[in-house]
Amino acid sequence: MEHAKSIVVLDFGGQYAHLIARRVRQCGVYSEIKDAETSAEELKNAAGIILSGGPQSVYDSSSPQGDPKIFELGIPVLGICYGLQWMVNALGGEVKQGEVKEYGKANLKVGSGQWAVGSGLPEELTVWMSHGDEATKLPEGFENIGTSDDCKNAMIADEARNLYALQFHPEVVHTEHGQEIIENFVKTCDAIPWSIDSYVDHVSAYVKKEVGDKKVFMLVSGGVDSTVAFVLLNKVLGTDRVQGLLVDTGMMRKGEVEMIGRAFEELGIDNLRIEEASDYFLKKLIEVHNPEQKRWIIGDAFLSIQKRVSEEMDLKMEDGWMLGQGTIYPDTIETGETKNADKIKTHHNRIEEIQKMMEEGLVVEPLRDLYKDEVRVLGEELGLPHDLVWRHPFPGPGLGVRILCAEEAWDVDAKNLELDMLHAALPIRSVGVQGDGRSYRSALALFNAQKFPGDTCWELATSVPNTDEQFNRVLICTSHTQPPEFVFTPSYITKERADLLREADAIVDTEMRKANLYEVIWQFPVVLLPFGTSAGGQSVVLRPVESQEAMTANASHLPPEVLEAITSRILEIDGIDLVFQDLTHKPPGTIEWE
Ligand code: XMP
Repeated sequence: MEHAKSIVVLDFGGQYAHLIARRVRQCGVYSEIKDAETSAEELKNAAGIILSGGPQSVYDSSSPQGDPKIFELGIPVLGICYGLQWMVNALGGEVKQGEVKEYGKANLKVGSGQWAVGSGLPEELTVWMSHGDEATKLPEGFENIGTSDDCKNAMIADEARNLYALQFHPEVVHTEHGQEIIENFVKTCDAIPWSIDSYVDHVSAYVKKEVGDKKVFMLVSGGVDSTVAFVLLNKVLGTDRVQGLLVDTGMMRKGEVEMIGRAFEELGIDNLRIEEASDYFLKKLIEVHNPEQKRWIIGDAFLSIQKRVSEEMDLKMEDGWMLGQGTIYPDTIETGETKNADKIKTHHNRIEEIQKMMEEGLVVEPLRDLYKDEVRVLGEELGLPHDLVWRHPFPGPGLGVRILCAEEAWDVDAKNLELDMLHAALPIRSVGVQGDGRSYRSALALFNAQKFPGDTCWELATSVPNTDEQFNRVLICTSHTQPPEFVFTPSYITKERADLLREADAIVDTEMRKANLYEVIWQFPVVLLPFGTSAGGQSVVLRPVESQEAMTANASHLPPEVLEAITSRILEIDGIDLVFQDLTHKPPGTIEWE
């Protein structure tokens, strides 16, 4: 889709660009992300340009370099972190390694003066820094407008040319007045106002143009994105030109299929076929223990069912059917290698077969310009119930990635670990992300009298995976005060195990809503492990996390009474012997265990 007069974020290194774009959108202006190398010619219609941060040094031979001609376009430019350094370097200033590397909070002193981006700021504020290099000599025309303890040129501007740059990160919540700074910049740009309301019109036009007189077939997973996309297609094209398919894989959450069916019914959408295929999926997963193989089988089974149903319903491409997908903006951007989450999702929506269909214009993705929170606002506007659109993100393979399978116990000796706490290695491995790749390692469980994570536990959650190659996760046991004898049972995905996990997951859901914490926590996977304290017994891991876009995540702190209530109710489930909370951040742990 073409957006004239948007604010373009040039991506100099992954992590930050998405967050900046979202912050700009929160100012009521459309924002999109483009490659750092995008030419000035392509950017000449932008209302403003923001240069994102990035992990490299401008002097590295492989560091991303933009087109210096963008500074001659007369468009306001804001450089952030690496963006500042590249701007300074490109305009003839000087960047050097700073004497001190600044990571985390810093105190910024703002100079007196009429600064467009600094307007309304207090004289001093706390900002978030993450840099080793800094600008040591400013280009001609620039002046210093803010200094931190360890960085002289923390905020600089050439007001005459509308060029601004910050060494700190205004986009992260830890920077005080960060959103105001972004708003100040946005005000200097000649951008067209944008909101979800104007998006509905915009997207309707896009869908009509893209679909023409064709009809759309769509796989609805039950997740927020595909649900909203499906409703939108129905509203724009009418129910007789849309057909949905929801495959019940046997790995959905408790009551999920019914909940979605009801929500559509209330909106007068009656074109969703629900295909009960649990037996089909579960049969294919017999004796499957390897996480990658599990994923592959589930994905493949989805495709087979989709093919069979479309044949049964006679939905042929040659008769004018095309495919609808709930792909959202973060999934469509080519991502750096740190973004494992996006890569996985990309696999899901961008497998070869679908890529080919896209080239032939046979795929429509109505949400491709939106972020998750924007999809949610849109969903509510379309009349979907609040509880449905604000549900936590749920992976495509469903509970399948949360039911851990193993043929034999993983034997790790944690006795030599010198910790001031009771601990034990779990007899299984799970996926994590360390350095530039995925790891497959054991988890270390901590035990204390409180059955609650104190400061030491949180510290160990960071230090153990960093120092001991055997582990990629650290947990606190919330059901036991001392390590029991673990009894491992060789296991793959079965209906019984899926039912156990569904029960535990439903308890977590209820308790979190009861405590008014459901919408505070970003995602709360509940994981089933194939060992307990008795033969055939199982364990449950609670994995609440806070995150932005899932690229990185922090393990969440839960109030003791909530953790206790969840634990005691889960222990009442017949077959669950132990409960843990995962305290590992991402990295080194992934959000899902697999
Ligand atoms: P990880 O485990 O890599 O997960 O930290 C990051 C985010 O992605 C979700 N996830 C998936 N979503 N299909 C999806 O649509 C998948 O195959 C898939 N695997 C993981 C996960 O729930 C988390 O939000």
